[in-house]
Amino acid sequence: MLKETMMTFDTARIRKDFPILEQQVYNKPLVYLDSAASSQKTLTVLKKEEQLHLEYYGNIHRGAHYMADKATADFEAVRDEVKAFIHASRREEIIFTKGATEGINLVAFSFGEAFVRAGDEIIISEMEHHSNIVPWQMMAARKGAVIKVLPFDDDGRLQTEKLDKLISGNTRLIAVTHVSNTLGTINPVKAITAKAHQHGIPVMVDGAQAVMHLAVDVQDLDADFYVFSAHKMYGPNGVGILYGKEGWLERMPPYQGGGEMIGEVKFEGTTYQTTPYKFEAGTPNINGVIAFGEAVRYLQQFNMDDVHRHESELLACCTRRMMNIPGMRIYGTRPEKSGVITFNVEGVHPYDLGVMLDKTGVAARSGRMCADPVMDHYQIPAAVRISFAVYNTLDEIDRFIEALTRVIALFK
Ligand SMILES: Cc1ncc(COP(=O)(O)O)c(C=O)c1O
Repeated sequence: MLKETMMTFDTARIRKDFPILEQQVYNKPLVYLDSAASSQKTLTVLKKEEQLHLEYYGNIHRGAHYMADKATADFEAVRDEVKAFIHASRREEIIFTKGATEGINLVAFSFGEAFVRAGDEIIISEMEHHSNIVPWQMMAARKGAVIKVLPFDDDGRLQTEKLDKLISGNTRLIAVTHVSNTLGTINPVKAITAKAHQHGIPVMVDGAQAVMHLAVDVQDLDADFYVFSAHKMYGPNGVGILYGKEGWLERMPPYQGGGEMIGEVKFEGTTYQTTPYKFEAGTPNINGVIAFGEAVRYLQQFNMDDVHRHESELLACCTRRMMNIPGMRIYGTRPEKSGVITFNVEGVHPYDLGVMLDKTGVAARSGRMCADPVMDHYQIPAAVRISFAVYNTLDEIDRFIEALTRVIALFK
């Protein structure tokens, strides 16, 4: 049954789109299991960047020549593609950033300036990536606001029933991850936005670990803000998206000043563009955004439910086999989970495990996963994480389990 379903998801064909995966490292076939940190880029993405630089590079929105016009048209076309990809209602709601982190900083700063006062409260969850904690802390310090934390259970379930108690008349925003980068939990975002909106509170969703695994419809989720990064979805690094409902964006001040975001500049005072340009100061990552369009197109060829099914099968198979290893502890075991396994093995330091796995050709992540509160929850110094993408195979799981077993044996 497993094999049959896997065959309908043609990984052999998919891997041809990622030639980097075919190489050997330390004379061993590469097994790339670190896509949650950064996925590999499709050949179409790489070729698009090259084509742009070889054929029609020019600065956007300001040129009166062929190169600038063509670059501008392609750049703006990507806004429309992203709008369709996440089912936003208007292209003005799509803001290009340099990544999820910048998107969150933008909202924290700009929303904070407009709507947060001393004594107000922001709710974030215990399972957030540092990028969805620190910008809120910085804003809270500036405005005299307070951060409240929604905890999770040991198995990785967000305790959403506690929202009722956490929400108060002073709550100004809830910021929550769609999918945890450490636990893999897929959070019930739609239920969270429904609850928040009953109280008139907007929700910012960190989709950095979601958009490449799940079909995302920001209108269906009813997210007020939604951020993600291109480099985790087979696209270039240095590009990201902030989606924001126009009603909020219109009322938020610019995040940075500079070129492009202005209406008219006078020494006596400056007027600003409307959204999205109000939030896109300076020359953006032109080649990155245009190449990102190829990544969006690449993902759109799949039914995202098939992607989720494929990665879930890898997850289930790998988890089952890992659980047979004595001393194995997996953090995050919810049924609603994406293709991420964070773990430790009793008696082996995660850094040693990561380094030794690397020598077998397996690229895993070891460390604190940019999620100190999650490490603190389990009172562990660090952990190892593997993560799956469209190009991973059951054969790679075999090689990973074999490598892991051999490495662990060295420490016993
Ligand atoms: C859940 C989550 N949020 C935010 C980020 C930050 O993304 P970036 O570094 O691309 O801005 C990451 C990156 O790992 C992440 O996993």
